[in-house]
Amino acid sequence: MKTTTICFVNNKGGSGKSTTCSNVGAAMALAGKRVLLVDGDMQLNLSLSFFPEDKVLEMAAGEKNLYRAIREQKDLMDYRIATPYEKLDLIPSSTLMSSIEYDLFTKWQRELILQKCLKSIREAGIYDYILIDAPPTLGGWVMNILCASDQAVIPVEASPWGMFGLANMFEFLGEVRNIAPTLQVMGIAVTKADVRKNYFKQTMETLKAMDGIHVFESVIRVDSAVEWSQDNSAPVVMYKKSSRSAGEYRALAEEVMSLGGR
Ligand SMILES: Nc1ncnc2c1ncn2[C@@H]1O[C@H](COP(=O)(O)OP(=O)(O)O)[C@@H](O)[C@H]1O
Ligand SMILES: [Mg+2]
Repeated sequence: MKTTTICFVNNKGGSGKSTTCSNVGAAMALAGKRVLLVDGDMQLNLSLSFFPEDKVLEMAAGEKNLYRAIREQKDLMDYRIATPYEKLDLIPSSTLMSSIEYDLFTKWQRELILQKCLKSIREAGIYDYILIDAPPTLGGWVMNILCASDQAVIPVEASPWGMFGLANMFEFLGEVRNIAPTLQVMGIAVTKADVRKNYFKQTMETLKAMDGIHVFESVIRVDSAVEWSQDNSAPVVMYKKSSRSAGEYRALAEEVMSLGGR
């Protein structure tokens, strides 16, 4: 049974990567899929989507987090923890991820370490999806995340500066293809949209005119329920199922699942 690995990448911070990753993952689990979430960012936002701050900091300071595993090139099978939700597991991150670039530098085949550490989990076929949340950078560690993935989803905030960084992002993805020829860009997910603004309409037109790039139909609008859910250490699709954003994240997850082939 094949596991599909999808990462959420964009070098722009605040574009909605962590929120999208946590909610798409949670929506997939609600739809009956077995999902492993991997927190690849030192900001610990994916972990904070499921656990309170004290627990996340405890995991970040402990032995069983992604940073430790990568630095010591350990099999990630033993680093998984169960979230409060069925069919949804997490590999937590660490604030020490800030020095991961330095740690990778001297390693043999340094772009492929995450791929190797995830190998036995993938081969065990115990998850339908592995979703990886990336930090807002474009370096060796994000290269690792992309090389470990079958597909990349690019969350983009519908704002002028949200659009500004996209060219760099695509250039970087082009370079990664040399090392990871099977990596595919699944599409752009528009997040934090204010659909009343003319700027939003212009952004959508610009994105849809981009050559060979899929734009997901489900647009995620700004919704205060997202912030309340994060304040309560839960993805909004679990915290407030009836909210507008929960419906939008479920629809996005459906699109991702139909393109992800599972
Ligand atoms: N749909 C949404 N509605 C309202 N706020 C959102 C929404 N999605 C994300 N946010 C907020 O925007 C900020 C950035 O989102 P985040 O997912 O952390 O982005 P990234 O991981 O790309 O840095 C966070 O404070 C988050 O609460
Ligand atoms: Mg983030």
